[in-house]
Amino acid sequence: MKIGLIGSGNMGGALARGFGAPVVCSDVDAGRARALADAVGGSVAADNAELAAAADVVVLAHKPGQLAEVAAQTAGGARTVISILNGVSLAALREAYPGVPVYRTMPNVAVAVWQGVVGLVDDDGGDPERFAAVRELFERCAEVVLLPEGQLGILTAISGVGPAYTALVAEAQIDAAVRAGLPAPVAQRLVGASLAGSVALLRANGMDTLATRRSVTSPGGVTARGLAALEAGGLRAAFDDALDAVLEGGA
Ligand SMILES: NC(=O)c1ccc[n+]([C@@H]2O[C@H](COP(=O)([O-])OP(=O)(O)OC[C@H]3O[C@@H](n4cnc5c(N)ncnc54)[C@H](OP(=O)(O)O)[C@@H]3O)[C@@H](O)[C@H]2O)c1
Repeated sequence: MKIGLIGSGNMGGALARGFGAPVVCSDVDAGRARALADAVGGSVAADNAELAAAADVVVLAHKPGQLAEVAAQTAGGARTVISILNGVSLAALREAYPGVPVYRTMPNVAVAVWQGVVGLVDDDGGDPERFAAVRELFERCAEVVLLPEGQLGILTAISGVGPAYTALVAEAQIDAAVRAGLPAPVAQRLVGASLAGSVALLRANGMDTLATRRSVTSPGGVTARGLAALEAGGLRAAFDDALDAVLEGGA
């Protein structure tokens, strides 16, 4: 399957690395497309019409507001279209690419290291075989979650933005450790290993968060005091507010 990527920015690059196959790519900045093609193997299309003609599957990795412009540039040549555009409905995609099978997804940037999450809207467009091929493409680099289109915004607010949230949480812990006296490189190693191990443990426990917390929390002990401080600081409310903020912005 020849993959075409329209947009060679953050997510285009992450997906190209995750797919692990040569791509044909394009970008407004031809140098950016060339750098990506050189990094992952593949070629640069002279324009989006050439890309659409060369690719079996065209992945839209430009900005959402560029939908109509890019669709016009492909000149009706796309055979299958996969969108990662935030907030752009299947109906809008079908209008932009009439008669072309279209699929709506929401990946996160961890696809670049083969540990992504991809939400895939569970509408196979009447072609289960093609839908399975799209799903398999993303399974190369991610856990693929099928869900109705109406729930994709919630997935975006959890896993789409998740790497940024985790980076912020890690940064807060590193800064706290530095404030308490640890050298920054030591703090970074500790937080990285602690996060990775904690997630592995949680998943081994079937994501039973309560059991995992209890296993490290003795009554009146240090973990209990730390957790109480986090609750008093409004951790849960902050994540609720963050989810609402993402949804209000039109995810
Ligand atoms: N970043 C994430 O974590 C994430 C997660 C899930 C989904 N998404 C979705 O992924 C898409 C891309 O996001 P991003 O963060 O990767 O943005 P980005 O880094 O700005 O990449 C988009 C690239 O597309 C290029 N582009 C614009 N018009 C084009 C055209 N007509 N033909 C070819 N390339 C064109 C842009 O060039 P210019 O900069 O010159 O315009 C830019 O290099 C967005 O629709 C977003 O909703 C992002």
